[in-house]
Amino acid sequence: MDFLYQHALKPILFRMSPDTVHDLFMAAGETAGRFAPSRRLFGLFYNYRGRDISKTVDGLTYRTPILLSAGFDADGRLTRILPSLSFGGEEIGSITAHHCEGNSLPRMTRLIRNKSLVVYKGLRNHGVDALIAKLTHTPRIPGFVLGVSIARTNEEAACTDAEAGIDDYVDSFTKLNATGIGDYYTINISCPNSFSGETFTDPALLARLLPRLREIPCKKPVYLKMPINVPWEQFVAMLDIADTNNLQGVIIGNLNKNYGDLTYPEDAPKKFRGGLSGAPTFKLSNELIKKTREKYGKRFTIIGTGGIFTPDDAMEKFAAGADLIQLISGMVFEGPGLMRKICERYSAKD
Ligand SMILES: Cc1cc2nc3c(=O)[nH]c(=O)nc-3n(C[C@H](O)[C@H](O)[C@H](O)COP(=O)(O)O)c2cc1C
Repeated sequence: MDFLYQHALKPILFRMSPDTVHDLFMAAGETAGRFAPSRRLFGLFYNYRGRDISKTVDGLTYRTPILLSAGFDADGRLTRILPSLSFGGEEIGSITAHHCEGNSLPRMTRLIRNKSLVVYKGLRNHGVDALIAKLTHTPRIPGFVLGVSIARTNEEAACTDAEAGIDDYVDSFTKLNATGIGDYYTINISCPNSFSGETFTDPALLARLLPRLREIPCKKPVYLKMPINVPWEQFVAMLDIADTNNLQGVIIGNLNKNYGDLTYPEDAPKKFRGGLSGAPTFKLSNELIKKTREKYGKRFTIIGTGGIFTPDDAMEKFAAGADLIQLISGMVFEGPGLMRKICERYSAKD
């Protein structure tokens, strides 16, 4: 199947625009997830069936330690097919308080030689109310963990006024908690493609946002999605604020804004048009995971994401200190067999 993907399907898909391919995959994945025979068929090829590699983190048990990272399934349409692809969970979203069209097309550009996507989605999603309605009516697959990533609506009002931005997060967080949708929540403060950039990576503003969220009764783990391009001192200041506000963990991290980190920077858009996923995030994220572990020990759950294309990459992320891993680009470039291969490699460790 991997051979088929690499040599038959991928050459066709990679001739189409990434936005079109994404739309096709969402529709196909959602449809396949509805029916047991199609789930079984996908499972036959792509589901891990080796020894038990389940992991319990912050009270949630993941059948495998691999999650789909936030941004691919913004509106929670793939919750029933992803378990057949060896995922132990997914992070839905980022969702926002209001429906958001996102940025203009193209929202994704492939940089094939760089093994990266330029991501310019601008938090395109149907909004928290639509997500709650959708997930309330979607039967769950047992053992598959659903995280929900929350961002601030990508519109001028919520982005230019910090207080309005905080209210936007509070609105989504309150509704999710009230309805019980989502097993864990991630506060995404590091989307590089929104109206005014990453306001809440400023420690002073983060110190206003998190206490407001902690006023809302929540019995579930809450994580913070970290930027990977800020200086270490600022990163530490953010972690300290996460610590004092009793957050359970961090996701390290988001897209890389620095086109100079590409192996072939000449392939990048001439002007900034969104953050880079994939290979250019790998080292940065690993270094930050390692340093966070060294400084904070076991204080934080760390979910490692960025640039996992092979089982070895995944093992490096775990060795750096990640409890769980997330990915998107690896699946796009290497195909849907990647997660099973990682599980097989993971099960062989020790
Ligand atoms: C198409 C796309 C959309 C993304 N949207 C979001 C998002 O809405 N929220 C978020 O926290 N991260 C978002 N990200 C970042 C990913 O969650 C992840 O941190 C990053 O892509 C690194 O992982 P990867 O190298 O495996 O792709 C997005 C990434 C991609 C590729």
